[in-house]
Amino acid sequence: MKKSLKICRAITAGVLLLVLITFLILYFTVLKPKQPKIVASPIGLDHIAFSLPPNPTLNISIRAAITIENPNYAGFQYRNSSATVFYRRNLIGDAPIEAGVIRARSTKNISTVINVDADKLMADSSFLPDVLRGSLNLTSTAIMEGKVILLGIFKIRATIYSSCDISIFVWEGTKTSICDSKIEL
Ligand SMILES: *[C@@H]1O[C@H](CO)[C@@H](O)[C@H](O)[C@H]1NC(C)=O
Ligand SMILES: *[C@@H]1O[C@H](CO)[C@@H](O)[C@H](O)[C@H]1NC(C)=O
Ligand SMILES: *[C@@H]1O[C@H](CO)[C@@H](O)[C@H](O)[C@H]1NC(C)=O
Ligand SMILES: *[C@@H]1O[C@H](CO)[C@@H](O)[C@H](O)[C@H]1NC(C)=O
Repeated sequence: MKKSLKICRAITAGVLLLVLITFLILYFTVLKPKQPKIVASPIGLDHIAFSLPPNPTLNISIRAAITIENPNYAGFQYRNSSATVFYRRNLIGDAPIEAGVIRARSTKNISTVINVDADKLMADSSFLPDVLRGSLNLTSTAIMEGKVILLGIFKIRATIYSSCDISIFVWEGTKTSICDSKIEL
């Protein structure tokens, strides 16, 4: 009796393993991961804070919307992360990205606030000429670490790397954003 129970368990484990392997093979072939599509765009000014001498600082907060389109048959669960913003290769700001889940084959909107160190921005000798010429080009990068969730059961560690080129056309008041993203398992 005991012996048959053991055999039964072994068979069950074997079947489960087989199912798991089948799903993984299926996932990496038929359901091969496709790159998520990301769009990030600044929406408007959130607030401006400044302090007076002896330590004058000027901080600007810009509200931004990040839209992530997940074309995969798997969801993605990510931890708290942050995006960093560069202006002409100098780090000028960052934005927190709160932990969340992007469901399979769905689009998620994330809103965040970019805290810009305006002192650093204005200390850059290119800043004024760029504004006068009418366009400011920023680059933002984000690394989101988390797990790919397959069929709501299987979890595989994964990371999404994304990078956006954002152009702000100062006089027109318009902006464009071109993003590149990559998911790595
Ligand atoms: C601006 O931001 C810096 C760094 O985050 C902070 O130390 C400083 O107190 C801020 N200044 C104001 C006026 O909010
Ligand atoms: C993630 O960020 C939120 C809000 O910023 C915070 O409340 C939460 O504790 C953080 N979670 C972890 C695991 O750090
Ligand atoms: C995300 O935002 C876009 C436009 O900003 C909107 O068209 C879309 O319906 C939103 N999606 C969700 C899931 O809220
Ligand atoms: C910013 O990028 C746009 C194209 O997106 C380009 O037309 C413009 O000249 C660039 N501006 C600067 C100051 O590099």
